[in-house]
Amino acid sequence: MANLVVIGAQWGDEGKGKIIDILTKDADYVVRYQGGNNAGHTVVVGDEEIILHLIPSGVLHKNKICVIGNGVVIDPEALLQEISYLKTKRINVDGNLRISDSAHVIFPYHKVLDKLREEKFSKTKIGTTGRGIGPCYTDKYSRAGIRIADLLNPRVLEEKLRCNLKEKNAVLSTVYKHPTFSFDKIFRQYCAYADIIRPYVCNCSLLLNDAIKKKKNILFEGAQGTLLDVDYGTYPFVTSSNSTAGGACAGSGVGPTKIDKVIGIVKAYTTRVGEGPFPTEFSAQLMKKIRSRGKEFGATTGRPRRCGWFDAVIVKHAVAVNGLDAIVVTKLDVLDMMPKLKICVGYAYKGKMFSDFPADIEVLWQARPVYEECPGWMQDTTGVKKFSQLPPNARNYLSRLTKLLGTRIEMVSIGSDRNQTLFV
Ligand code: IMP
Repeated sequence: MANLVVIGAQWGDEGKGKIIDILTKDADYVVRYQGGNNAGHTVVVGDEEIILHLIPSGVLHKNKICVIGNGVVIDPEALLQEISYLKTKRINVDGNLRISDSAHVIFPYHKVLDKLREEKFSKTKIGTTGRGIGPCYTDKYSRAGIRIADLLNPRVLEEKLRCNLKEKNAVLSTVYKHPTFSFDKIFRQYCAYADIIRPYVCNCSLLLNDAIKKKKNILFEGAQGTLLDVDYGTYPFVTSSNSTAGGACAGSGVGPTKIDKVIGIVKAYTTRVGEGPFPTEFSAQLMKKIRSRGKEFGATTGRPRRCGWFDAVIVKHAVAVNGLDAIVVTKLDVLDMMPKLKICVGYAYKGKMFSDFPADIEVLWQARPVYEECPGWMQDTTGVKKFSQLPPNARNYLSRLTKLLGTRIEMVSIGSDRNQTLFV
C-alpha cells in the first residue's frame, strides 16, 4: 500500500469513511491532516453505524496508530466527547491515538464568532457547521492561535488566552452586542483538558518520518472535499483548510516525495451541504427522491444535503489539483432505479462554453449546465459481487466517467456495508 492520500473529489460527503475503513486494513498509521470536527465520517460495521468527526477512522481497527496532524484544528471538548462515544462502542483509543503538538485549538469564542458572523452578515452566509473552524484558522493565520503545545504550558496558555480574550471580547461586545467570556472559566477548563490530552501529544512529523524509515504504511485521511478547499473550491463557499491532497504534507510534516499515491472518492452523483453555487442541482422532485434513497443528511449537523447530477467539470478539476492516480465511485446503487442519467460536461454562460472549472463565482451561480444523457439500468445492484456482474448500462455509465475525467476507477461502492464493494 505504501503511503496513500485519500481525498474527497466533490463537496465532501462522498463516502470517504467507508473506503478509508477498507483501505485501513493495509495501513499501519492513519492520519487526519486538516479540518476539525466539522467532518463526519460514517462507517457501518455489521449492524452498527459509527460516525467519527475528529479521530481518524483507523481507530475502528485494532493496532493502527491514529494521528491527528498539525493541520487539524482541535476542539478539546469534542475530542473528549468522541473518545467517550467510542468507549460506548467498546473502542479504546489509549495506546493508539497521537495528537500533534502543533495543531491549533478551538476555544468557545471561536464557536460563538462562527455563528455570529453567519447571522450578522447574511449576504455572505456560508452555511458553516458552526464548530468554530473558520475563526480558529483565522487566528492561526493571523498568528494569534493557541496550539496544543501552548495548552500544555500554563504560562504560555495564560498569556496567549488573556491577549486573545481582550480582542475577542471587544469584538463581541462592540460589533455583535454579545456577552463576553471570562478568562478564569476558560483557563480552568482548558487546563483540565490539557491534563487529559497530554498522554496523546507527540511531534507528528518525527513520528511519521520515523514510521516511513521503518517502511510502515501511512494512510492520509482527507476530510471535506476538493470543492470546499480554501484555494481550489467554490470560494468563499468553502471550509477554511486545504482539503486537497497537498494539505496532507503541510498538515502532517511529511514531505511530498514520501507520498506514493493519491485516490479521489467520487459519489456517482453530486451533493453539497451549506450555501454556495451548485450548477447541477436537481429540481425539487428529483432532489426528494435521491435524498431519500441516498440518505443524504449531514453526518455532523443532520442538515439535508442538496443533490444533483454528476458534474464532470468539478471532478476533472479535482483530478488535476489533487494529481489523482485513480478514483473510487461510491453510492452507485442510489441511481439503480433511474431510467435516464445526466452527466454535466460543461457550463454555458453568456455565449461561452466552460469545460474547465471557472474561478468566477458569477459563472458558477448563473451558468447553464450542459449535459450528456445516458440510459439507466433499472436494476438492483446492491447484491452484485463482481464488477463484471454490474448491469451493462451501469458499466457504460462508469466507463463514460473515466473517459471524461481521464482517470481510472479502482473500486465501486454499492451499499454502506464493507462487503458491498467491487474491486475493478
Ligand atoms: P465550516 O467548515 O464549518 O466552516 O463550513 C464551511 C462550509 O463547508 C459549509 O458549507 C459546510 O456545510 C461545509 N462543510 C464543512 N465540513 C463538511 C463536511 O465534512 N462535509 C460536507 N460539507 C462540509
